[in-house]
Amino acid sequence: MTAKRERIHRIGILTGGGDCPGLNAVIRVVTKAAINKLGLDVIGIEDGFLGLIRNRMRRLQIDDVSNILTAGGTILGTSNKADPTHFAIGEDKDGNPIFEDVTNRVMEHIREREIDALVCIGGDGTMSGAANLIAHGVPCIGVPKTIDNDLMHTDITFGFTTAVQTATECLDRIHSTASSHHRVMLVELMGRNAGWLTMQAGIAAGADVILIPEIPYDIESICKTCVDRSKRGKRFTLIAVSEGARPRGGEQIVNKVVHDSPDPIRLGGVSTVLAEEIAARTHRETRATILGHVQRGGTPVAFDRVLATQFGYKAIQMVAAHEWNRLVVMRHGKTDTVEIASVANKQRLIAPDDPLIAMARAVGTCLGD
Ligand code: F6P
Repeated sequence: MTAKRERIHRIGILTGGGDCPGLNAVIRVVTKAAINKLGLDVIGIEDGFLGLIRNRMRRLQIDDVSNILTAGGTILGTSNKADPTHFAIGEDKDGNPIFEDVTNRVMEHIREREIDALVCIGGDGTMSGAANLIAHGVPCIGVPKTIDNDLMHTDITFGFTTAVQTATECLDRIHSTASSHHRVMLVELMGRNAGWLTMQAGIAAGADVILIPEIPYDIESICKTCVDRSKRGKRFTLIAVSEGARPRGGEQIVNKVVHDSPDPIRLGGVSTVLAEEIAARTHRETRATILGHVQRGGTPVAFDRVLATQFGYKAIQMVAAHEWNRLVVMRHGKTDTVEIASVANKQRLIAPDDPLIAMARAVGTCLGD
């Protein structure tokens, strides 16, 4: 099993990290095209790298991937806690996880199943897992997914547009109740350290205030917006806030630490803190809603079905061409590829000169600064 191997007979496919709409569309096209066009066997690996660690995999046939295009989630399952280089094998007497590098076990299972190459569908964490296997001689191809849209070198990841749509619908619903009750309503969106989801859904829903991690907020500026709106006869304010937003000179709010996860910090709760601060300072009634995992679920919108299929098809073309160790990306409307190692454990954030920022300001949206 090496990248130089003349002929590939069998590929493995896995979905790693947090799920998102469109994963099944990739599994479908990769499996169908691998079997029908290239005559390959396809092995579906369960729960991302966990399936490689635990040797849990199954052969995928055409029937297994029929009728899954529109389904949310992933038929293979996923895990955002299984990094073979740092895998929790148990706990010490104080209940702290004990970690071990189990890459050798993974390599044994790959050999045992006679998998010649892997298609890894995931975000920066999954690509870092793929980079480790590449270093051990496993040919890999990466396919980028995440609702956060924060993967380097790609203009867009599938799952993002569906999450924007879901979050926008939620913001629209909160908008009407905010208006009826004359309240300041905060809606907290996911996205980790990147504001893409909050920015796009906030703009789409016409949020009055949009708070993203890339622009630390000033509470005075947010309160002034609420009060100024009241003076203009607008007795409610809709605030879209990213889970990673933080005050100027302050810290993000950590909801929990998942010790056995390669990226252990789970953000969340900033909207609740802000709601109390705004109420105390402006004497307006405030409410906070944390959208949470509703943003990751459900059927992919048409755009994501097509994007995921484009990405998966490109991955199969790369398998056919033996173009290993690269990630499919979308740049300026065209699929392209970059080294997997160049995106591992990195995040693409909104740059200060991104047109979205100027556009939001142009319609009078307060960005908290
Ligand atoms: O990366 C996707 C994402 O949904 C982030 O937006 C969020 O911060 C995180 O995953 C939540 O992770 P978990 O599913 O482990 O709570």
